[in-house]
Amino acid sequence: LSNDTVIVVSNRQPYRHRYRQNEDGDPTITVDRPTGGLTAGLDPVMQRLNGTWIAWGDGEADRDTTDEDGQLSVPPEDPQYTLQRLWLTDSDVEGYYYGYSNRALWPLCHLAMGNTEFDSAQWRQYQAVNQKFADGVLEHATDDSVIWFQDYHLACAPKLVRSQSSSDPFILHFWHIPWPPVDAFRACPQHQELLEGLLGNDLIGFHVPQYCRNFMECVETLVEHAEVEHDSGRIRHEGRETMVKAFPMGVDADTIKQQSMNVPESMWQEFKNEFGLASDHRVVLGVDRLDYTKGIPERLKALEHLWAERPEWRGEFTYVQKGSESRSQIPAYQQLQERVSTITERINDRFGTDDWQPVIMIEEKLPRDTLCGLYRYSDAALVSPLRDGMNLVAQEYVASQVDDDGVLVLSELAGSHEQLGDAVISVNPYDTESHADAIEQAITMPETERRHRSRRLRRKVHNNNINVWLHDMFDTVDQLRGDGGT
Ligand code: G6P
Repeated sequence: LSNDTVIVVSNRQPYRHRYRQNEDGDPTITVDRPTGGLTAGLDPVMQRLNGTWIAWGDGEADRDTTDEDGQLSVPPEDPQYTLQRLWLTDSDVEGYYYGYSNRALWPLCHLAMGNTEFDSAQWRQYQAVNQKFADGVLEHATDDSVIWFQDYHLACAPKLVRSQSSSDPFILHFWHIPWPPVDAFRACPQHQELLEGLLGNDLIGFHVPQYCRNFMECVETLVEHAEVEHDSGRIRHEGRETMVKAFPMGVDADTIKQQSMNVPESMWQEFKNEFGLASDHRVVLGVDRLDYTKGIPERLKALEHLWAERPEWRGEFTYVQKGSESRSQIPAYQQLQERVSTITERINDRFGTDDWQPVIMIEEKLPRDTLCGLYRYSDAALVSPLRDGMNLVAQEYVASQVDDDGVLVLSELAGSHEQLGDAVISVNPYDTESHADAIEQAITMPETERRHRSRRLRRKVHNNNINVWLHDMFDTVDQLRGDGGT
């Protein structure tokens, strides 16, 4: 695959510019990296591939940092590829992002049916914004291009590009979240348009085979005249073929390992001092966007159960939750944030003492090395989503265990459990009692077992790192294009 041919298209951009005041009170422009597995995972990939990344410019200083075509070179400190920003109006954002993407598709795919809203005005806006992204792609696409759509915000765009392009690019899509079973998906009034939009792709990737099977079953049941070959993953529809395949995403394990090795223990001690924790006090960690799919209330209830039923654990460890604010304009997210605060306060009131606060919530953005320090030096991590496409926090935690002494408790309902399941402590996050047992098992695990499991997990995460993911996918792209070999 030659450079400059890849055009990544996603809703979220990897770099956002904002206005801030410096120490003298003067306005300056800062750049930050939005939270989330998609941008964190793809930025290192694009730094290798070069090419162009098209995304929504949502930062208030974004227009002042791009040229007249909306382009800039990133990463800002060491430019490797082009970021092409697209501008959306407030009403686009309301209907497409806060509306159909995150009130219909996100809860539908995560089987949070109680949170779904299928509003036809929002759907129309979703289609219109997909056309804007398609227009952005059409300006760049040539016969040699590989157009790589990301995620659930852009389900209609592949068909639009396919039908409107004067060239014949290769179009692929990676769907970063679960694909639901047909009985759930058919509840969506726009199911047919969504599936047909995606069938504009040459290749569709999911994290795990189950999501591929769900998708193929949806096509078979809900799209007229589509022929599905389950074994090979080929779908024929309107004279074209789309291949469906699982590509479990990994992390940039070597870089994370290096970053983790560079964090001195003194930094961890400073962190503990800042939060009033004794230097030998144990810390159990959670790192999530504040999203109702992440199982944060369920995790807090398991901790509450442990401290209530086994008082000997009170004062023995502290749970530190890094919770990044997310999609806060949506009522279901506001309710989740309130729930998390209420349960946290309840636990701290119930068990806290003058010397011990059971749960510490950190909402502010943490510098990358502080996060690496938290991963490396905490005693255990709890990753307990109710449903999650993959969950890269679990893999980042594993890659940071350069001392081989942290323990991972991982939900059976996360995509990453498929690979890591046999070396982690598995939990069903809905089962409070056994969830509490799992936390206890994590903090009492003997050193030899901790090391043994950690080594196995690290091997898995390094063997299936982000480069392997990329190679697997682009090998398939090359086979389908008939080039043979990268
Ligand atoms: C998930 C989605 C991504 C999204 C990220 C952060 O990982 O799969 O597409 O970028 O969440 O959410 P946000 O709405 O802030 O982009």
